[in-house]
Amino acid sequence: MPPIDRTSIHRKFDLSGKTALITGGGRGIGLQIALTLQQAGAGIILTDADGSHLAEAADQFPLKPQVYQLDVTNSKAVGDLAAKIASCPDIMVNNAGVSRAAPTSQTTDEDWRTVLSVNLDGVFYCSRAFGCLMAQRGSGAIANISSMCGEIVTRQQSVVTAYNASKAGVNMVTKTLACEWARFGVRVNAVAPGFVQSEMTGKYPDEVVNAWSDQTPMGRLGQPHEIASAVHFLASDASSYMTGTILLVDGGYTCW
Ligand SMILES: NC(=O)c1ccc[n+]([C@@H]2O[C@H](COP(=O)([O-])OP(=O)(O)OC[C@H]3O[C@@H](n4cnc5c(N)ncnc54)[C@H](O)[C@@H]3O)[C@@H](O)[C@H]2O)c1
Repeated sequence: MPPIDRTSIHRKFDLSGKTALITGGGRGIGLQIALTLQQAGAGIILTDADGSHLAEAADQFPLKPQVYQLDVTNSKAVGDLAAKIASCPDIMVNNAGVSRAAPTSQTTDEDWRTVLSVNLDGVFYCSRAFGCLMAQRGSGAIANISSMCGEIVTRQQSVVTAYNASKAGVNMVTKTLACEWARFGVRVNAVAPGFVQSEMTGKYPDEVVNAWSDQTPMGRLGQPHEIASAVHFLASDASSYMTGTILLVDGGYTCW
């Protein structure tokens, strides 16, 4: 009997020698993704539109990340950062996102534009800037943070039209770029979380959060590290035959 080779499976998840750029990495799910990818060995390029989030986040890393203030809705700033960074990252996580919950009659043009612009334009601008560099080099992995709301309308909340539309758009950007760049060695996937405990969901009253838990087969919200693990998988060679996948991490919510 040959000995069990544990190192080859660990090697597939090892990100040593790679760099990972995360947008909206100053707090919440993005910060946890960055911390997890550093644990897996990657050098981290942490970006966020909010300088105060970045300053607090940077202290939490055992190894100092590169830190850049970046508003993903600013196409020029995204392009400038891609030109400034010495070498193109191996991994990019399009995580920055916002939500505005209001009945459609009370959703302003500005609300609609803000959500579409951060959640969808931002994914496109960053993918175009960094993904094209990855394609030129012939390798790379992009993980977009979508949402189960890109595929279904959640109960209790038929009031997030812009958010749902933006995440449905992220799913189609993911699949389209996956097909466009597959032959250049760039994989493009998405993680679609269910309800996750973060500042984004923390603004909702207890009764709404309790209803989300009740409607989830696992009976609770997810934690940011549980989303980060899925991103780690998609960023690593363990998912080498996956591209264009929308990976649901939702505690079973979409099964019911
Ligand atoms: N929390 C959830 O339940 C949940 C569920 C599904 C999907 N998501 C998605 O996960 C991602 C992270 O969500 P979160 O819960 O951690 O939110 P969060 O509000 O806690 O953090 C979002 C981060 O994005 C940054 N950001 C906002 N606008 C930006 C911009 N224009 N450019 C760059 N950075 C910007 C914020 O400063 C913040 O640091 C989002 O894409 C969100 O849609 C969250």
